Amino acid sequence: MTKIWTALLMLLAGMFTAPLFAADGEAAFHQRLNDMNVKSYHQSLGATGRDTSCQLCHGTKTPVSAPDDRTCLNCHGSRDQVAALTLPDPKDKNAEPNPHDSMHYGKDAPCTMCHNEHRPSEIYCNSCHLFKYPNMKP
Ligand code: HEC
Ligand code: HEC
Ligand code: HEC
Ligand code: HEC
Repeated sequence: MTKIWTALLMLLAGMFTAPLFAADGEAAFHQRLNDMNVKSYHQSLGATGRDTSCQLCHGTKTPVSAPDDRTCLNCHGSRDQVAALTLPDPKDKNAEPNPHDSMHYGKDAPCTMCHNEHRPSEIYCNSCHLFKYPNMKP
């Protein structure tokens, strides 16, 4: 029992000693936290766009920049596994190339090149090509 209380106290202490950010102060920072949206497909994680859910992707409660691919891969598996989800059908002559294993970047393209979280996702390839990828969730 005491262990639980100690953990709770430490959690609370952590909340109140969270670093202040920039010039806009802590209240404004927390307002910004609450204003972040996450994708509908990630809401089931309890990632409702509030408080600690930020940690799921950013590895910190108070993120300031885009997350590292490693946090995506913690849940989505290896780059090989991600690439295997979108293998083009070899029998379909019009199949679009695998976005997760392309001739230019192999399997190494950063996830956030295409999958944004707080704004619409975009297919980076289409800055040069005209692929459709109808299953890409916006
Ligand atoms: C499901 C994963 C995920 C969750 C949960 C998440 N983020 Fe993000 N966050 C991203 C990704 C991906 C980016 C990269 C750019 C974008 O999507 O806007 C990002 C970018 C950011 C940035 C950098 C802003 C920028 O324009 O690049 C901030 C700040 C941020 N997130 C704050 C938060 C906060 C605060 C929370 C919790 C309320 C949160 N994020 C929850 C994935 C996530
Ligand atoms: C805490 C675990 C977790 C983290 C971290 C996470 N995801 Fe997810 N993601 C999920 C789950 C669970 C789903 C829903 C899976 C489903 O619907 O089959 C999902 C769904 C998705 C989908 C939609 C899949 C579809 O069905 O089209 C994409 C794209 C995605 N995540 C990309 C990312 C990216 C990029 C990051 C890193 C910024 C990330 N995820 C971080 C767990 C996570
Ligand atoms: C070059 C753009 C691009 C990059 C980079 C990218 N994706 Fe995707 N992703 C897509 C597109 C396009 C789709 C939809 C394609 C389809 O379903 O045929 C997709 C679909 C997905 C799906 C759903 C697959 C399914 O059918 O279940 C997941 C999960 C996903 N991406 C995760 C990731 C992760 C994790 C990373 C980083 C390792 C990543 N993606 C990097 C473009 C990209
Ligand atoms: C900066 C521009 C640019 C981007 C971004 C880009 N490509 Fe390309 N891509 C090209 C050019 C130019 C060629 C022709 C190269 C050649 O034929 O030697 C090409 C050729 C290809 C080809 C060979 C077949 C064809 O259509 O000509 C494939 C497949 C391809 N790209 C896939 C992708 C995928 C998948 C992405 C995103 C992950 C992507 N490209 C992103 C410029 C780009």
